[in-house]
Amino acid sequence: MRMFSALAVAASLACLSAASAFAATDGAGNGNPAVAMPSASAKQAFIDNLIRRMTLDEKIGQLRLISIGADMPAPKLMEEIAAGRVGGTFNSVTRADNRPLQDAAVKHSRLKIPIFFAYDIVHGHRTVFPISLGLASSWDMSVVKHAARVAAEEASADGLDATFAPMVDISRDPRWGRTSEGFGEDPYLVSQSARASVQGFQGSSPANPDSLMAFVKHFALYGAVEGGRDYNVVDMSPMRMYQDYLPPYRAGIDAGAGGVMIALNSINGTPATSNKWLLRDLLRDEWGFKGVTVSDHGAIEELMRHGVARDGREAAKLAIEAGVDMSMADVQYLKQLPDLVKSGEVPMRDIDGAVREVLGAKYDMGLFADPYRRIGAAAQDPKDVNAESRLHRDAARDAARKSIVLLENRHDTLPLAKTGKVAVIGPLADAKIDIMGSWSAAGVAGQAVTLLQGVRDALGANAQVTYARGANITDDPRVVEYLNFLDWDNPEVVQDKRTPQQMIDEAVQVARSADTLVVAVGESRGMSHEASSRTSLSLPGSQLALLQALKATGKPLVVVLMNGRPLDLNWPKANADAMLETWYTGTEGGHAIADVLFGDYNPSGKLPISFPRSIGQIPTYYNQLRIGRPFTPGKPPNYTSQYFEEDSGPLYAFGYGLSYTTFDVSKVNLSAGTLARGGKLDASVTVRNTGKREGETVVQLYLQDVAASIVRPVKELKGFRKIALKPGESRTVHFTIDEGLLKFYNAKLQYVAEPGDFNVQIGLDSQHVGQATFTLK
Ligand code: NOJ
Repeated sequence: MRMFSALAVAASLACLSAASAFAATDGAGNGNPAVAMPSASAKQAFIDNLIRRMTLDEKIGQLRLISIGADMPAPKLMEEIAAGRVGGTFNSVTRADNRPLQDAAVKHSRLKIPIFFAYDIVHGHRTVFPISLGLASSWDMSVVKHAARVAAEEASADGLDATFAPMVDISRDPRWGRTSEGFGEDPYLVSQSARASVQGFQGSSPANPDSLMAFVKHFALYGAVEGGRDYNVVDMSPMRMYQDYLPPYRAGIDAGAGGVMIALNSINGTPATSNKWLLRDLLRDEWGFKGVTVSDHGAIEELMRHGVARDGREAAKLAIEAGVDMSMADVQYLKQLPDLVKSGEVPMRDIDGAVREVLGAKYDMGLFADPYRRIGAAAQDPKDVNAESRLHRDAARDAARKSIVLLENRHDTLPLAKTGKVAVIGPLADAKIDIMGSWSAAGVAGQAVTLLQGVRDALGANAQVTYARGANITDDPRVVEYLNFLDWDNPEVVQDKRTPQQMIDEAVQVARSADTLVVAVGESRGMSHEASSRTSLSLPGSQLALLQALKATGKPLVVVLMNGRPLDLNWPKANADAMLETWYTGTEGGHAIADVLFGDYNPSGKLPISFPRSIGQIPTYYNQLRIGRPFTPGKPPNYTSQYFEEDSGPLYAFGYGLSYTTFDVSKVNLSAGTLARGGKLDASVTVRNTGKREGETVVQLYLQDVAASIVRPVKELKGFRKIALKPGESRTVHFTIDEGLLKFYNAKLQYVAEPGDFNVQIGLDSQHVGQATFTLK
């Protein structure tokens, strides 16, 4: 391509600055959408040439990632960029904001090296999609990918180059508030989601003007913080790491993610931020990662609080030695690295290595070819960045309805008729902020469709809709204060001043005159967020009392859950006539939920995480390691592994979700009883739609290693297919099983498939499966 043949020439022209050499080859960022990347050797030559011309201070400047607004006042930031002391920034979201910052870099800094602009675009940008846990509930990787693609198109059009996503931490402890941000508990499903998401963000290349570079996070094991308490330690066997927790990061990297964000936690005694084994041996040497690593916010400073660095100097030294290329919200790299290098304590080789990755990432983002490729020309800036015309509502509605899980549907309560009188009740029924979920980026709550609005739009003049709030999210002032702590000027949790009983009384009155009750309960979005770990999974405050009072009216009770983690649903499970897990559905949430309530969409979501019966049962993940005294349903419980006060097993299992139709699954058919190494075996079932409506379901393949050299899980998801069937229609679904699918990390961390018997289990959730057995020779 024109600009990249110029690039090779530029690499040899030591007298030209990088930006001026490339700026001459392209205009103001309106390049071709698909960019052919030059060869690796051209990139290498270009970067080597640039590094040769950089002073130590300029090199260190490239390693600094600065938060807009938080780290320094705007004029100071301009000064720092112009002085070559900033490699990239995050938290600005418009072209008009980013342009002067890029000007400072490419017009005023000595070497004119462009900076990059990043942001936490986790589940949408201007248009907010369902939270990742919701996207995973679709079990539809085209949905996950498309959500990321739309986000990339919107964010790149706002001058952004990179996103701190996808977040692919496995979470098995719903007390952890960031459970909402990930794709659930399962290594396979989360890995598939990681891949789809990276592909969506980056498109065919992170250099494309409509792509974002993806930073897979949080490397590593952040979801396993002890007790689900955020930022806590992680202590884990190598086998569990390799087998369960590491695969999603690897999948994101193998899909081409250009960046990795390092986790805040320590791992077996060493913080990830100072962890050479993690960042060099595993990430670089074993996995061959070629991109850039970035610390999490202030994580280098925190090495002192972890108690592994005496002072800032030691913290900076540990981090650069370990392989932290960029320092987010940097203080210590700027302060400490110059002297550490001059004194010989940190070799220039380490600095050059980190700078090489930062420049390489910018190169891969296409910024040396055109620093303004996503910022464009001022004349083309959107007049209103929040204009309705910039939103992708159809895509968001489609993703949202596919992410909803039907948990209960007694007597076919759902779908509801579009007639009569529907009472929409609950603290989340008309909550625009909450339906957007945590990390809703540049989404504007005012543009969100609430459940109340969605029901009104669906019913139009055909039916009557009434509303009552019914309860505050919580009655606990301590919790309200905590949730509003981040932004006192714009508190997210605004309390109704009435007493809980007054609110319930009003709701009951509204309910009495309605035919059906649609009640939205759950958590405010801040309750399922970073730093929002909980000691309880119950519906907070008076919400359960509200449900109980409404149940007493005798009207059909449809519970619509909005939450970012599995909750304790014992009472609603036993008492609701129907129940939907909607998570946080985003900008088009209310429409999507109404689509499901009134049957314009037949729900097809499946849980990506197990729901415990109580908090004491955690962890409840389905793929537990086998034990010597398992509890067996129907057999005496004495001296088996269980909690004696309550039933065993999850309240709702991984992979579970109902439909408005029913499906029948045949027995599992195997093409052969043995599998030779290097060979293949076909496992299939025939699924039939036995109900009266067209519907989709997810056929799930699990494997169990019958006897191995180490203890293996009771079962592991190894494949899934989402299929649509008309009433009466059947389809045979095939899965190919080969040696690769049977491999695991043994006690020596060798990835092997051991000979012996394997049970193949196929079903529509993790608990109800048919089984057949084969032998690996
Ligand atoms: C801290 C969070 O842990 C991380 O996920 C996020 O990307 C950064 N802050 C930047 O906002």
